[in-house]
Amino acid sequence: TQVEKGGYKHFMAKEIAEQPVVLADALRHYLTTDGLNLPSELDFSNISRLTLVACGTAFYACSVAKYWFESLARLPVEIDVASEFRYREPPLPTDSYAIFVSQSGETADTLAALRYCDEKVAKTIAVVNVPTSSIARESDIALPILAGVEVGVASTKAFTCQLLVLATLALKAARDRGHMSEAELAKHMETLRLLPGLLTRALDLDEALNIVSNDLSEARDVLFLGRGAMYPLALEGALKLKEISYIHAEGYASGELKHGPIALIDSHTPVIVFAPHDALFDKTVSNMQEVMARGGKVLLVSDRKGLDVASEGVWQTVQMPEVPDLFAPILYAVPAQLIAYHTAVAKGTDVDQPRNLAKSVTVE
Ligand code: G6P
Repeated sequence: TQVEKGGYKHFMAKEIAEQPVVLADALRHYLTTDGLNLPSELDFSNISRLTLVACGTAFYACSVAKYWFESLARLPVEIDVASEFRYREPPLPTDSYAIFVSQSGETADTLAALRYCDEKVAKTIAVVNVPTSSIARESDIALPILAGVEVGVASTKAFTCQLLVLATLALKAARDRGHMSEAELAKHMETLRLLPGLLTRALDLDEALNIVSNDLSEARDVLFLGRGAMYPLALEGALKLKEISYIHAEGYASGELKHGPIALIDSHTPVIVFAPHDALFDKTVSNMQEVMARGGKVLLVSDRKGLDVASEGVWQTVQMPEVPDLFAPILYAVPAQLIAYHTAVAKGTDVDQPRNLAKSVTVE
């Protein structure tokens, strides 16, 4: 089927804007009135470990999911990029599950990692956008992310839909392992159902982020910071920005700032901080102040509560809707994507088809 841009300048813009709709589709599929709609053979009760493997943006989805599985389900999680995982001969417990996340379902390294795990673990699970793909076919269980065709090389709606499916799996694991009551599960499901509406509100920040991005497009280097599950979001923000705008960008865990990247801070290096007003907010703010004390200019992406207490001296602020802490990474993906998009447009790069990159990497 031919996919059109439908009035948007780029597929990437269209795919970013589609997120509330595709996320709602995925929610309707995975969340029913009686609970989670997942294959009955999935049972995390006696699983000793989870291995999550992917490449690129899908790997950052795995990195967010690690926080969820560990905190909600008390399940130890190992994550790795497929190109490393496949050759390091990792020992795998037979009572473990391995999950492979891939938009295309054809990434050569991820497929090789899946083949390595086959027979060694209790189950291989694929989280894929293309249900007929090799990774979907060769895994024991394939879970569709239901994002629809994604054309832009920089993955956007696939990322948020991958996160949603992984969140659903984490809730299932928490239930199976006795770490979540029926009532708590119902509460989390309610939160997930709020996401399409919240994403729509985050998309309303498009014009504000467009204006900020004009300034960002002048930068030579940009740093992204986050803590907890916002750390992988910082990595994803940096990946998006570098792949389509060609501006050098790095994502760092806020707490690691003092172990290196703080040496790079000057008035020309914008620092983008993803910091919802959560349990770690004060820690992130203190890292942010270290940046400002060294003349760094900070773009703070937070909610009203966060901005009320931490906006002083900040170069730019972006006010996000309030969202329960746990699933904030799904919402904060939107500003990460829009910043990269508008910065690239301001630079005049080929947003949908950035140089040297491919949508699907089927060779090693
Ligand atoms: C390429 C794409 C990325 C994608 C990565 C993994 O690098 O440009 O957008 O995240 O491959 O692809 P997959 O299809 O396995 O998710």
